[in-house]
Amino acid sequence: MHSIISRVNNVSAFLSTCMMCLLGAIALSSFLFTADPKGELTIAAVKVYNAKVPRYPRRKQEMAFVNFDLKADLTPLFNWNTKQLFLYLEAEYVNTEGVHNEVVIWDRIVRRKEDALIKVSGKNKYAFRDFSRKFKDIPTSNYTLKYSVMPYVGLLTWGEAATTLEPVEFHVEDHIS
Ligand SMILES: *[C@@H]1O[C@H](CO)[C@@H](O)[C@H](O)[C@H]1NC(C)=O
Repeated sequence: MHSIISRVNNVSAFLSTCMMCLLGAIALSSFLFTADPKGELTIAAVKVYNAKVPRYPRRKQEMAFVNFDLKADLTPLFNWNTKQLFLYLEAEYVNTEGVHNEVVIWDRIVRRKEDALIKVSGKNKYAFRDFSRKFKDIPTSNYTLKYSVMPYVGLLTWGEAATTLEPVEFHVEDHIS
């Protein structure tokens, strides 16, 4: 009886060691096979309008509206250890106080390889505004499509799939004084 239990213990210890090695190998292999896909991102326009601040009727702020075109083939990021991708479009600019800001203006979760061929002509999903409430004296901004790969086993990895080639100007249509 005793020997059966100890044998079962040994076997299960052996199996869990195998399991750990296997998971380790899967995690490692996805580092070895990292893809670095590159797409195209163009910004059609960035227009700034005056908007009301919710709950503060007399306060005004400027909001930026970004129209972009994005094309990227992210299917190479899908391997046997890819659970899903998190894509996000980030605007980067330096505001009038010299603070470097990064703002996520659009995102998408991709769960299947079939959906990883990205072709979007769209506008920002999330409000784009500055703490100072103004974009007036901010010359330009840069835009980058970034992704993080969530694996089944192992650590998150990050990358950049597309970026604007030149800084993009803010077109202030209606500024606040
Ligand atoms: C935007 O990109 C240009 C060149 O690609 C770079 O010189 C500039 O520092 C970037 N601006 C920001 C705010 O990252």
